Amino acid sequence: MQTFLHGRDLIGDLDFSKEEVETVMDVAFDLKRKRALNESTALLRDKVLAMLFFFSSTRTRGSFEAGMAHLGGHAAFIESRTTQISHGDTPKEIGEIFGRYFDGIAIRHVDWGVGNKYQNAVAAASRVPILNMQCDVYHPFQCLADLMTIIEKKGRDLRRKKMVVSWAYAASYQKPMSVPQSLVLQMPRFGMDVVLAHPPEFKLMPEVMDMAREQARKFGVGFDVTDNMEEAFKDADIVYAKSWGAMVHTPDPDEGAKIIKKYEHWITDERKMALAKPDAIYMHPLPADRNIEVTDGVMDGLQSVVYDEAENRMHAQNAVMALTMG
Ligand code: CP
Repeated sequence: MQTFLHGRDLIGDLDFSKEEVETVMDVAFDLKRKRALNESTALLRDKVLAMLFFFSSTRTRGSFEAGMAHLGGHAAFIESRTTQISHGDTPKEIGEIFGRYFDGIAIRHVDWGVGNKYQNAVAAASRVPILNMQCDVYHPFQCLADLMTIIEKKGRDLRRKKMVVSWAYAASYQKPMSVPQSLVLQMPRFGMDVVLAHPPEFKLMPEVMDMAREQARKFGVGFDVTDNMEEAFKDADIVYAKSWGAMVHTPDPDEGAKIIKKYEHWITDERKMALAKPDAIYMHPLPADRNIEVTDGVMDGLQSVVYDEAENRMHAQNAVMALTMG
C-alpha cells in the first residue's frame, strides 16, 4: 500500500499510481463506513479548501463542500465571475495567493483547450495540492467514485469484466469528453476489458487514446473501439453511456451541434440494456438528458447505480483530501 500522498496534486487520472488509487479506495470505504456509523471523521480540522468554479455544478460543489465539513474543515465556494480573474489575476496569482490562504485548491474549468492548462499553471505556482474538479481533459474524482461503485457492485476482482464506455445522444449542449477519457485511462489498471463506442466524429483526444492503449497493454486487458453501440453492449458487465461533444473533430460548436443530430438513435434504452448481461449495471455521472440520452426506464430501473455513483463522489473525494491535505 502506498500511503504518502501528502502535498500531491490530482489533475490527471494517472497522477496517482495504481497502488495509490488502491489506497484511496481503502480510505474511501473506511470513511463511508464511519459515516454510516456516525463516527467522527475530523481528519482535516482547521483546514480550508478553495473551490474555484468556472462552470456550473450540482454534485461536485455539493460533495466537496459537504465533504470538507465532514472532515472537520471548511470549503470556500468561489465563483470565477465574482473574482478579479477577468481583470488580470493570472493562474500564477491564483496559485501563489490562494496557496497562502488555503490548504488545497480545487478547480473546475472545462473550457476546451484551456481548462487543463489553467489547472497546471495554477499548480506550478501553488504550495498546496491542486484538485481537479473537472477540466476539458479529465474528471478524476468522478472516475474514482465510479471505480468505488463498480467495486461495490462487482467485487474487487474485476479481471475479465467487460466495461462499455459509450457515447450517447444529448441535445442540451456539447458536454466535455473528460469523463470517458478518465474512464479509459483508469479502468484498464483494475483489470476491466474496456470497449469504447462512439460515432466516427466523437473520437477522444489521440494522446489520451495512446495513453489508454498503453495502460491496457501494461495491465494485460482488452481495449477495443467500435462505432456500433449495440455491438458494444453485448454481454457487457458494466454499461457507462453518456454524451460528449465533437471537439476533436471540429472546434466549431455549431457544426458540432449539427453532427450530434445525426445520432438520435444512440439512446440507452431497455432494448439495448437487454443486450448486456442480465446483472449488468448502468452508470452515468449525471446530469443526463432524460428520455433523450437515456430512458427513464433505464435511469430509474433496477440496473441503474447512478445515485450510488453520486454518493461515492463524496467518499472518494474525502479520501483524496484527507491523504493529500492532511
Ligand atoms: N458528475 C458531475 O460532475 O456532476 P456536476 O456537474 O453536477 O458537478
